Amino acid sequence: MFSRVLITGGSGFIGSNFIRYLLTARPDAHLTNVDVLSYSGNQENLRDLEDHPRYTFIHADICDADKIRPLVAEAEAVVHFAAESHVDRSILDTRPFIRTNVLGTQTLLDAAVATKLERFVHISTDEVYGSLLLDRTDLRFTEESAIKPNSPYAASKAASDMLVRAAHHTFGLNTCITRCSNNFGPYQFPEKVIPLFVTNLIEGKKVPLYGDGLNVRDWIHVEDHCEAILAVLDRGKSGEVYNIGADNEQSNLDLTRSILHILGKGDDFIRHVEDRLGHDRRYAIDSSKIRRELGWSASRSAWPDALISTVDWYVKNPGWWQRIRSGAYREFHETLYGNRPPANPAPASA
Ligand SMILES: NC(=O)c1ccc[n+]([C@@H]2O[C@H](COP(=O)([O-])OP(=O)(O)OC[C@H]3O[C@@H](n4cnc5c(N)ncnc54)[C@H](O)[C@@H]3O)[C@@H](O)[C@H]2O)c1
Repeated sequence: MFSRVLITGGSGFIGSNFIRYLLTARPDAHLTNVDVLSYSGNQENLRDLEDHPRYTFIHADICDADKIRPLVAEAEAVVHFAAESHVDRSILDTRPFIRTNVLGTQTLLDAAVATKLERFVHISTDEVYGSLLLDRTDLRFTEESAIKPNSPYAASKAASDMLVRAAHHTFGLNTCITRCSNNFGPYQFPEKVIPLFVTNLIEGKKVPLYGDGLNVRDWIHVEDHCEAILAVLDRGKSGEVYNIGADNEQSNLDLTRSILHILGKGDDFIRHVEDRLGHDRRYAIDSSKIRRELGWSASRSAWPDALISTVDWYVKNPGWWQRIRSGAYREFHETLYGNRPPANPAPASA
């Protein structure tokens, strides 16, 4: 069990859920969150934890080696979420993805090797495997599947996976890589499909559905993902890759209709739009390895209940997403952090 954990990108969707989860699951753990607060980093996600005695926030960029190294030196383990994460943005401009996902990951790995870090868990994605055919429902991605990323986002994540692999093989760094399917749950930035569609519908707007809507994604609740990450942090074998999924394949059209149904709307609220360039057709994850070797299984992802409770969270928290959609959350960052110099790392016992 690691009690001093450095989390990168903890102010984003999955990272903030993981911090909340870990603080509860591990009453002895001290967590440091290093986040640059890019457009998707939102301190409001963890507002209630600001004064938590076992939580420290550091405003810094993972590409900044001078700031990162002392943080890694203080930690026993790193869980690395920080990334540019939106495929559509990577199609518009690949450079931020190469910078954060590739150079940022290498900056962390250099610090981890230099400071002899005990454990490095790299949060990757099933998108590194590319796409499956719609009519081959017998096929799913395993940890042995070829790495064939199709989007600039997936390619930058695949590159970071290769760097983690190299740090393990060359320097003996204790690493694990997780590759998870699409997450849903509270605090997801409302540019991603579920919160985007829910918040559009609450505001009486139509939802933009790419292409024929038949692309298939494998959905997992973010808390199931968090639990899997903790299993890997605690018990994962060094140098291994673990796929994480909940056997919950849905076409985008079915997902859209489910959301419409929950919110009492009809198909007339669907606006079909031109397909995303290079849109992967189907993702499906075989997570038998983590279930067999680490004893984890998804327990919170079953539809329709998990989707209904997620939609309900956005219905009940309009202030959270309205401040994002209006840009007001940025002012909150500015007020809190705009003129503040980045803090020094907290002492290990703080
Ligand atoms: N969302 C999914 O469905 C999903 C699925 C599988 C894997 N993942 C992976 O999980 C991780 C987290 O995804 P998410 O959906 O929470 O993303 P997110 O965009 O919500 O959060 C990313 C966080 O990283 C921070 N960040 C970005 N660049 C940084 C930098 N240079 N230095 C420090 N912090 C920086 C952002 O401020 C933000 O807080 C990513 O690595 C992503 O590839 C996501």
